[in-house]
Amino acid sequence: MTGPLLLAIESSCDETGIALVEDGRRIHANIVASQVALHAPTGGIVPEVAARAHLRWIVPVLDEALATAGVTMGDVDGVAVTYGPGLAGSLLVGINFAKALAWVHGLPLVPVNHLEGHVYAGWLLDPGEAEREAPSFPLVALVVSGGHTFLVEMRDHLDYRLLGTTVDDAAGEAFDKVGRLLGLGYPGGPAISAAADRAVTKDRVFPRAWLRDSYDMSFSGLKTAARRIVALARADAGLPADERDGALPDDIVAELAWGFQDSVVDVLTAKTIRAAEETGARGIVLGGGVAANAALRGRIASEAAARGLAMVIPRPGLCTDNGAMIGAAGARRMAAGVRAGLDLDARPSLPLAR
Ligand code: KG4
Ligand code: ZN
Repeated sequence: MTGPLLLAIESSCDETGIALVEDGRRIHANIVASQVALHAPTGGIVPEVAARAHLRWIVPVLDEALATAGVTMGDVDGVAVTYGPGLAGSLLVGINFAKALAWVHGLPLVPVNHLEGHVYAGWLLDPGEAEREAPSFPLVALVVSGGHTFLVEMRDHLDYRLLGTTVDDAAGEAFDKVGRLLGLGYPGGPAISAAADRAVTKDRVFPRAWLRDSYDMSFSGLKTAARRIVALARADAGLPADERDGALPDDIVAELAWGFQDSVVDVLTAKTIRAAEETGARGIVLGGGVAANAALRGRIASEAAARGLAMVIPRPGLCTDNGAMIGAAGARRMAAGVRAGLDLDARPSLPLAR
């Protein structure tokens, strides 16, 4: 071991994640119990159901994490836990579990912001992965998930200056809504990406919300436009208005999925690259569930490379919610002396602190 071994717990939304991370970088275990199948029939997350599933899975996930890493609680130097933002009931399951573990084993309890976790996923190394340089400052981070979409500048560890954020919906939420409109099921992101890959003709152009010179973003207009475009396509195909009354032909779904995805990718890429150039960043870090999107990854990576900007995009499994990212951010917080007491409470609307 080259640094402290953190046990990190993530339960803010619909994934129960527990990881063991050494020195804020090296993953020893990263177990995620996903509730995607549980929430698919309702087409979205039911908070009560999510909290109960965390309770059901948190102990087996801990056992598997310790077994995978080949360690016991005696080897652990601290417990990091997400305390916000997220669903209150879900957060409380992880927080109370973390408190109990920290108390029983006499370990420091380190509170972590979920959004910061998505940024710090860029520092992680998989078990057995060759060492590589950590992202260097100053950098610009784009976090795009189901609940959040923002751009920040970081000049040092734990130092965030918010450049822009969505003024309405998160990008992932737009993927999920449009996925539903196209009859692609939940979650929409991966399904839209797969459908877009099958598009042969790429001329269905969706609008872009540029919001002038601002780094802010907007996706609600795109969602409304998508509703209109899908309705027109259904009428053209002679289908009734309701998407439950018959599916659009596969090739049209693919073209529409491509058009929607291209609009999101275009705006996210342009804003991020401009932010990196205007702030004099050395590189870009991408995070959040939507960063698992292959079109976004490819586009932003090639635009960054063309400008000599270093680019860090975690593998898809580290972009979506997981415990390891909380361990990466938690290590930085622990090193900075951040500790929580046993009165730590859930902060459902916690902003990304400065
Ligand atoms: O970060 P995350 O796992 O949870 C939140 O903190 O929200 O992000 C989940 C979001 C969902 O909206 C999902 O549709 C989206 O990430 N997502 C994707 C892809 N994989 C997941 N969006 C686009 N393309 C993907 N491949
Ligand atoms: Zn997340």
